[in-house]
Formats: sequence, structure tokens, C-alpha cells
Amino acid sequence: MSAGKIIGIGSAIVIVLLLFYVMSQGGSSTSSKATSTQERQATEVSQKAPAKSAEEKKLDELKSQARELSQKETSVLYASKCSACHGKGGEGREIGTMMTPSIQGKSEEYILGKLEDYRENRVENTFMTGLLNNSTDEELRALAKEISSF
Ligand code: HEC
Repeated sequence: MSAGKIIGIGSAIVIVLLLFYVMSQGGSSTSSKATSTQERQATEVSQKAPAKSAEEKKLDELKSQARELSQKETSVLYASKCSACHGKGGEGREIGTMMTPSIQGKSEEYILGKLEDYRENRVENTFMTGLLNNSTDEELRALAKEISSF
């Protein structure tokens, strides 16, 4: 065997080995890439899903708490006579095309003045006229005090 042949066979073997090496490296790296992106997507999905539902749960919890609070805190008088139009917390409501005013954050004196105006029919053409005609001073004062806390 000539030295040239030995070198030729030797280098052929080296090239084949190199090819195998490159192929095995290339193959495994792409497959590991694929699994890692899949894994990442999977973890992203699994991280997103419970985070969102936990947020939603908290929101629902807060909403029901707020509802309970507003239901507990309003008097029977307010609940029966006023909340249908002004909302449970005095926030104002849309009734058909009309929007009732918010009566939140007003002072007791301001509210009492308004209610007395309505009772004495001092305000023309309002939804509130007639509503309080039979109300006593105590009732108006209790309502004003209650609403001023909204
Ligand atoms: C039929 C719907 C309706 C009901 C029931 C109602 N309101 Fe009103 N309220 C209104 C509307 C509409 C206004 C805006 C002025 C108007 O048109 O009378 C108003 C105005 C007011 C205002 C004045 C707000 C401002 O800043 O000028 C107060 C205070 C008030 N209401 C309190 C009450 C209270 C207390 C009750 C329960 C006794 C009550 N309302 C029941 C519809 C209603």
C-alpha cells in the first residue's frame, strides 16, 4: 500500500467521521431547539392561564364584596325609594335615555337642601317632585346623612 493511498483512506475516514459528527450535532441541536420552544410555549401558556383566572377571581370577589357592602349599608328607605333611580351607591344610573345624576360625594347640607326643595315642590319639572311629599323631616335628614356617606 502506498503512502498516498493510506493518506487517502485515512482522510476519507476522517471526513466520514466528521460528517457523522456534524450530522449528529446538527440533528440534535435542531431537535433540542424544537423541544425548548415547545416547552417555552407550554410554560408560557400554563403561566398565563392561572394568572388570568386568579385575577378574574379577585375581581369577582371584589365586585361581590362591593355589592354586599352597598346592600348592607343602604337603609330600607333609600333602597325602596331611591336606589332604583340613583343606584345602590348613589352613583347614578341610565334609565332609558335619561341619566340620573350621581349623588355621591355631596355634603349632608347640600342633599338635605335638595330633598327639601323636592318635597316642597320648589323645583319644577323634575322626576323627584312628588316623591318626597309625604316624607318627614326625620326621613329627609336620615336620607341626607346616609347619602352624604356615599
Ligand atoms: C324616578 C327616578 C328617581 C327616583 C325614584 C329618585 N330620584 Fe333623585 N333624581 C332623579 C333625577 C332624574 C334627578 C335630576 C333632577 C330631576 O330631574 O329631578 C334627581 C336628583 C336628585 C338629587 C339632586 C342631585 C343634585 O346634585 O342636584 C338628589 C339629592 C336626589 N335626587 C336624591 C334622591 C333621593 C334621596 C331619592 C329617594 C327618596 C331619590 N332621589 C329618588 C331621579 C330619581
